[in-house]
Amino acid sequence: MRPFKEIKANYHFTKEDEEILIELKPAMEKRVDRVVEAVHQWINTTESARKIFKDESLKLHVMNLIKDWFIRLFSGKYDNTYYDYLIRIGQKHESVGVEPHYLIRALNIVKNSCIDVLCDEIELCSERERYFIAINKIIDINLDIINSSYIEEEIKSYSIAYIARGKILRLGEIFSQITSTVLVMALILLTGAVIYLCGRDIYQIFTGKIEQNVITALGSVLILWVMLELINTELSHLRGGKFKISVFVGVALVTTIREVMIATLKHDSIEFIGALVASVLVIGIIFWLVKKTEEDRR
Ligand code: HEM
Repeated sequence: MRPFKEIKANYHFTKEDEEILIELKPAMEKRVDRVVEAVHQWINTTESARKIFKDESLKLHVMNLIKDWFIRLFSGKYDNTYYDYLIRIGQKHESVGVEPHYLIRALNIVKNSCIDVLCDEIELCSERERYFIAINKIIDINLDIINSSYIEEEIKSYSIAYIARGKILRLGEIFSQITSTVLVMALILLTGAVIYLCGRDIYQIFTGKIEQNVITALGSVLILWVMLELINTELSHLRGGKFKISVFVGVALVTTIREVMIATLKHDSIEFIGALVASVLVIGIIFWLVKKTEEDRR
């Protein structure tokens, strides 16, 4: 909040204005009920404002608060205690959900009522103007402080929500990083296993039936190649790149192709080989569709 001194200076609120307001005190005290009644009537005829009050007693309580506030307007004491009092009003309105536009309208009604009082009390038009300028300044200062403190309070509550949201997001990010790292490690381990598989198949080329073992080793190499692609995808995802589902579908495709190769070499039943070929076909179509979508997005 800006200092009270600065706010008063912005409105050119002088000692003379203070004296004018003190002068008006007796007349305003006499008409306070009329002023509060005008605000009361506006609340009663404005549905959204009426709804703020759970019952009549709360409305009566607030009308009394407005009465006290109005009398203090002409007290001539505009010190830090008064400043804190206005700040509290803004904070309270924020906590009970009285939006600033209600206060703006209510104070507009108060200003109009003050003009009525001045018309009743002061005959000379030029005199009235002098009084009204002082009233205008103090009401605008009130509006400025109350609404500024309302906004400040609202920002505070938002920033708490923002802090909580930020913390949750950061927690989620850390969790995701840890999971991705574990995944990369698991992939490295699995790739190690595939390398072993490859090595064993290649070794068997020299020790067993050459054409059968060449095909099996080829299948293992294919899997190794896809595993490397999988690690690369995960690493680029960790560095902030896009996630490629096609690589995972690729793993399924290559594994099934390897199975077809092995089944053919082992002369498995035609139904089994047929089912494997159908699987390759279905996974192949899915792979093609996913890959195409990924390329279109790029
Ligand atoms: C002339 C304009 C107004 C003034 C000077 C004013 C003043 C006040 C004050 C002094 C308080 C008590 C603050 C505290 O507890 O520290 C208050 C509370 C409240 N005001 Fe206003 N008010 C005004 C307009 C309104 C309007 C237009 C509404 C509703 C449409 C409203 C609704 C309330 C409510 C619901 C409370 C909380 C009451 C409680 O729970 O104790 N006020 N107001």
